[in-house]
Parts: sequence; C-alpha cells; structure tokens
Amino acid sequence: MILKNNHSRLLEELNKIFGKIMRSHYCGDVNETLNRQTVTVSGWMHRRRHHGGVIFIDLRDREGLVQIVCNPEDAESFAVAEAVRSEYVLQIRGVVALRPKGSYNSSLKSGDIEIIAKHLKILNISKILPFPVTEQKEVSENIRLRYRYIDLRRPEMLQKLRFRSHITRQLRNFLDNNNFLDIETPILTKATPEGARDYLVPSRTCPGNFFALPQSPQMFKQLLMISGVDRYYQIVRCFRDEDLRADRQPEFTQLDIETSFLHEDQFMTLMETMIRDLFFNILEEHLPDPFPRISYVEALSRFGSDKPDLRIDLELVEVGDLMKMVDFKIFSTSANDNESRVAVLRVPDGANISRRKIDEYTIYVNTYGAKGLAHIKVHDSGAGRKGLQSSILKFLSNDTLAAIIKRTKAQTGDILFFGADKVNIVNDALGALRVKIGLDLNLVQHGWRPIWIIDFPLFKWDEQSNRWKSLHHPFTAPDEHDIDLLNTDPGKCLSRAYDIVINGIEIGGGSIRIHTSDVQSKVFEILGISKENAEDKFGFLLEALQFGCPPHGGLAFGLDRLTMLMTGSSSIRDVIAFPKAQSASCPLTNAPSNVSDSQLKDLRYPTTTTLKI
Ligand code: AMO
Ligand code: AMP
Repeated sequence: MILKNNHSRLLEELNKIFGKIMRSHYCGDVNETLNRQTVTVSGWMHRRRHHGGVIFIDLRDREGLVQIVCNPEDAESFAVAEAVRSEYVLQIRGVVALRPKGSYNSSLKSGDIEIIAKHLKILNISKILPFPVTEQKEVSENIRLRYRYIDLRRPEMLQKLRFRSHITRQLRNFLDNNNFLDIETPILTKATPEGARDYLVPSRTCPGNFFALPQSPQMFKQLLMISGVDRYYQIVRCFRDEDLRADRQPEFTQLDIETSFLHEDQFMTLMETMIRDLFFNILEEHLPDPFPRISYVEALSRFGSDKPDLRIDLELVEVGDLMKMVDFKIFSTSANDNESRVAVLRVPDGANISRRKIDEYTIYVNTYGAKGLAHIKVHDSGAGRKGLQSSILKFLSNDTLAAIIKRTKAQTGDILFFGADKVNIVNDALGALRVKIGLDLNLVQHGWRPIWIIDFPLFKWDEQSNRWKSLHHPFTAPDEHDIDLLNTDPGKCLSRAYDIVINGIEIGGGSIRIHTSDVQSKVFEILGISKENAEDKFGFLLEALQFGCPPHGGLAFGLDRLTMLMTGSSSIRDVIAFPKAQSASCPLTNAPSNVSDSQLKDLRYPTTTTLKI
C-alpha cells in the first residue's frame, strides 16, 4: 500500500536512509511523470527481444509490465541481459525515458516510456515453466492447479484475486459503517445441520470423539445475538463434504451476517443496499431499487426454478386446465393429477428451429426425467388449426388449440414446447430448457437482474427417508400466521426465509430465525429428531434460547459465487487462490494424504499395520 500510494517520495527518503533498496516503483506504475528520473524495478522476465543490437526486456510484476532497454555500450548490463531467461527474477536500476515516436504501446499502462538499464542484477533463476504465463494457451486444469503459484502469475488470474480483495474491502466498509461487528467463530466445532456431509477431525484429548468443521457459523451467530452483539458479520470459511459442481467447493467462503430486532423487510433492504453499493462502486453498474421479490411458488410456476435468470425473457405458462378432457393421455393424465402439471414454454420466432435441434432438446429434457417434449409450430396464429404444425394436433380440438394460442399469446413464427409430468419434473425440465434455449438463441439480455425469492415452504417431504426436511435449515422461523399449521399441516407452513439470486445464481440465503425454545423444539420434532437427539446435538442452543433471546435474523452470501458472477468467471475455482480439484483434493499439496503411524497412535486410531484398507 505504501508503495502504491505515495511511493516515490517515501522511497526516496528510504533510499537516502538505507542507501539501497530493491525497488522504488512497481513496473506497471512507471510512467511519463518519472521521465529522466532514476528508478529501481524488480520483477519477472516476461519476454525478451533482440532488436538492432539492443536487448528489450519486458519486466513484469503485480502492477503490470515495463520495457527495459539494454544497450551494448553498457557492457556489464548487456552481458547479464544476454544471460537472462524467462521468469528469472531481476532487479534493474535505470533512467526513465519517453519512448521514441511511433513505438508507444497503448495496451500497457507504462506504454509511453521505457527504462534505460544502468544496472541489471539477477536475483534468482527459474527452471523452464510447465506452461507459459505470457500467452493464452489451453492448459489442463490439473496442471494449472498442480502449479497454482505459476497459474496465478498470469495477469488475468491475478486480476481476479485483486477483484475479490476489492469486493471484500467494499463489503467490510459497508458493514463497518453500519455498526456491524466482525467476530470470529470456532472452526473446530460441532456438526451444524446445513444438509451436507461434515468434515470430521478426530480429537486426541477426547479419544474416539470428533470435531466437525463448520458448514456455516449458523448457531454461533445466533448465540451472538443472544449475547447482545446486535449486528455481526464474518468473512468465514465453511466446509461441506458434497459433490462438486462448477459453482461448488468443499471449502468455500461466506460473508455471514446476523442482526437483532429487524423485520425481514428492513433486513432485506439493508442487504440490497449493500449489494447495490457493491455493484456501483466496483463495476459502476446500477442495480434496480428495490430488487423485485417473488414467491417460491410463483418462481417455480413461471420459470421452473427458484433461481430464475431474469435476463431471459421466456416464461412457462400453465395449461393444465385446458387439457383435462383432451384425447392425448399423456396430457390429460397429468392435467387431472394434483401433483402434476402441464406447462408450455413459448419461444418467439422458434418455428424455424430444426427437427434435429428439437430432437436434441428432447434428449436434453430426458436428463431431467421428462419423457418427451411435444411441440406446436405456429406458422400462422390467425389461421386456426391450419396455421399450426405438430404431431399432437390430432388429439386437440379447435377450441383447445385456440385456447392454447390465446393463453400463451403465441404469435406467427413461434414454437410452443409442452411438458406434462409430475410438477418437479416439468419444472426441472422446462426450467433448464428455458435457459438452454435462451443461450442457444442469444436471448440472454445484457446486465444484472437481481431478485429476492420469498415465501418458501418451511418443510419439504423427503420421499427417500419418508420424513419432513427443512427447505433451508431447522432454525428458520415459520411465518407468523402459520404457527398453528406446525401442529396440523406442516407441509402448508410457509417460512420467513429469503434467497437472493442474480442472473440465475443463488448468491445468498437467509431467514428470520426461531427465537423461542418451544417453537425450536416443535420444529425438531416435525423433522423427526427425537428429544434425546435434539438435546444431544442442539441442547446448548435450546437452553440459550431460554435466556432472553432477541428476535433475530440474517443471511449468508457465497463470496466465491458473488466474485465469480462479478468477474464473469465460468468456474468457482478461478476466483479462489488455492481451490480443490473436482475430486475434492488439492493437486498442489496432494492433500488429503497419509499420516504417520505415530500420529494415528496419538489419536488412538488403528495404524496402517493394524488397519486393512
Ligand atoms: P446456505 O447453505 O444457503 O445458507 O449458504 C449460503 C450461501 O453460500 C453459498 N454456498 C456455496 N458456495 C460455494 N460452494 C458451496 N459448496 C456452497 N454452499 C453454499 C451459496 C449460498 O447461497 N447458515 C445459512 C445462512 C443463513 O441462514 O444465514 C447458510 O449457510 O451462495
Ligand atoms: P408419442 O405419442 O409418444 O410419440 O408422443 C407425441 C409427442 O409427445 C412427442 O413429441 C413426445 O416427445 C411428446 N411427449 C411424450 N411424453 C411427453 C411428456 N410427458 N411431456 C411432454 N411431451 C411429451
């Protein structure tokens, strides 16, 4: 920071005091204001060119490149310049000069100047790199992760780390200015039920017992509200042993937040303001004020997803009521079943989508469990049956066809895709198709489209385990009007949870919490957690809720996902300095790895000699 902000004068002073320094300026910061001055730069040999008897070196550091000129008259420096190789670490003292006319480089910050080398020193040599940092070459991800420190030398990777640092600084500033306290919570702790598998750490001092690494600091931040902290935040590592995807890591970072005495409206407005400020200050983008809010049910009905990408202007339209009596069994069966739906995805100007493409889409929806993908091409919306083309026309009456055209607002040139099945299958299949077609047909609008999803059900029925599960987590409060439903019909009970989604990515989620022990115990009971089990796992929380717990609520942002979104990265790994590979392992350090028998003995664990794997 000192270097960047006020380097010249301060370093001149230091220079006088210490006589010599390794660097007076970052390479990328040397510019025409330093013309004719002597500077010292240090960095990596990015590129070298011989040109007309002169050697040009592009020297690289964190802030960019600067061109060094080594003239043969300066025999000593010239000899060193001849010896240097790619990625050698160099220190150069020289005089800044304006580049000759016609040799400016507008793509470089330092492109108007060069440094005429007076003294050139090799600080360290380098082996030939496993992949070049100078050019955009496709390198396998495993190699990139194995040599991550080299991968991070690439300017675009470094730029992402810098961007991430700016994001966290901005978020911290906002929260500090709004009276939040930054408080750390334990990493060696007890399992928190966020729905994934825990990472466990065996205890040496309590043999046979385990710590769990936190899936989130959920219970601790609630305890801090009971302490009276009132407004808490933490940029905190969370651990979830789950299958990885492009936007998931086993070890990831949350911006975790909790507040007391705020209604959800006030809290959501505060969070929205923080995100709006962030996008404006970092990207100079204006996000809508306020963010739109829609219910979970509406999101699924219109977009087939509770993470809708609003940049795509396509929606699902319900047509079940029109299909109850039709001769097409697939449609009428779903239309007459409460747990199924029949929906249409209208694609404007889609009538020219080829047969082959439609077959491809049919295979695509199959992967979401859909058994088919009926369609109608609208060649003339005003010509009744004659204007339509489809293999299912024969099953549908003129009236039904007219009603479908009216309901979907179909125009000449459109195509209508149909989904008929269990609600989940139709939503998943048409929801995914909506996004795929949006991308294929270039229908994704430019810009940022945030949305709050609210009014989630408190529970969802889990067929596999035959019991209720929390849609968010067990500490989420039920809607105040639905408390009685906890006893009578838990499935109908809405929650006070909210998710924040931007461009189809869930960047955060949270809720107003349960703040009484009675309601918390009731929720555990509905979740099938026995009294003993609740006492064993959450006894400390149930007890704490009885010592004057304020109404409270909060949210956690996925910081990696937010950074990924704001940097336009396609993989979460690109915004994490040292991420895990697909197999949840680290190719750089080879973790996880074996431990010694003596370590296992300390833990009273079977050693490799006694344990047969
Ligand atoms: P939740 O489980 O929804 O809520 O997590 C909050 C946010 O964290 C991000 N996220 C992840 N990012 C990368 N890799 C993962 N494996 C991963 N899992 C989650 C998502 C998500 O929206 N304690 C609650 C929050 C609360 O109620 O306050 C919680 O953890 O962006
Ligand atoms: P079939 O009579 O099985 O040849 O189906 C006629 C059309 O309906 C084909 O285009 C199928 O892809 C489509 N189809 C079949 N099952 C479904 C379904 N569950 N939802 C939507 N379309 C379907």
